[in-house]
Amino acid sequence: MNEEKMNKMEEKENEMISMPKIGDLAPDFEAVTTWGKQKFSEYAKDSWVVMFSHPADFTPVCTTEMSGFAEKKDEFDALNTKLMGLSIDSIHSHLAWVDNVRKNTGVYFDFPIIADLDMKVSKLYGMLQPNEHETAAVRAVFFIDPERKVRLIMYYPLNVGRNMDEILRALEALQTADKHKVALPLNWRKGDKVIVPPPVTLEAMEERLKDKSVELTDFYLAKKSL
Ligand code: BEZ
Repeated sequence: MNEEKMNKMEEKENEMISMPKIGDLAPDFEAVTTWGKQKFSEYAKDSWVVMFSHPADFTPVCTTEMSGFAEKKDEFDALNTKLMGLSIDSIHSHLAWVDNVRKNTGVYFDFPIIADLDMKVSKLYGMLQPNEHETAAVRAVFFIDPERKVRLIMYYPLNVGRNMDEILRALEALQTADKHKVALPLNWRKGDKVIVPPPVTLEAMEERLKDKSVELTDFYLAKKSL
């Protein structure tokens, strides 16, 4: 890459408004959506929210992804999780797309989709990444807990669709970690063994080494069933 191009990329990066990080309070906003005007903090009250952006309505990858979210809505509901979509399109475009997909495939996008024409929310959440595209949001997914804390963030480029199984797996992993105060190993799925927090004192380490209730690799890696 030549120096001029690199300088331009750096300029764009510096222009970007700071984006929420894991552990931050998810920024509040009011936005026009397919469910009317929504204040995020009210929509998010007492539940998890998976908020996701897509680059543009009436595009093929986005249609498969939005349909994927819609088809799994019952599973998100069962995990006390609300969905919220976003793209930098008009509300008229959103309405026409929702109607078009329902007519063509029978899948209904039964969650609010933000019409972020002024890019206010995309910028607030770092969904607009100008070195990828100047005016279309990347494929972001924010997992936000009932305290409105950002717990996990995924970013995909414009040309690669996300994996719905991984989105649901990550959500269940976060909720399981919270509920049982454990950590989840590589490729963990519901029903698999979980990781017990490692000891942090010598005394606890000796105890752990004698603990017959866990599957022990060594004092720092112990698993148990829930
Ligand atoms: C798509 O959803 O197919 C798409 C959208 C924007 C850029 C590339 C692909």
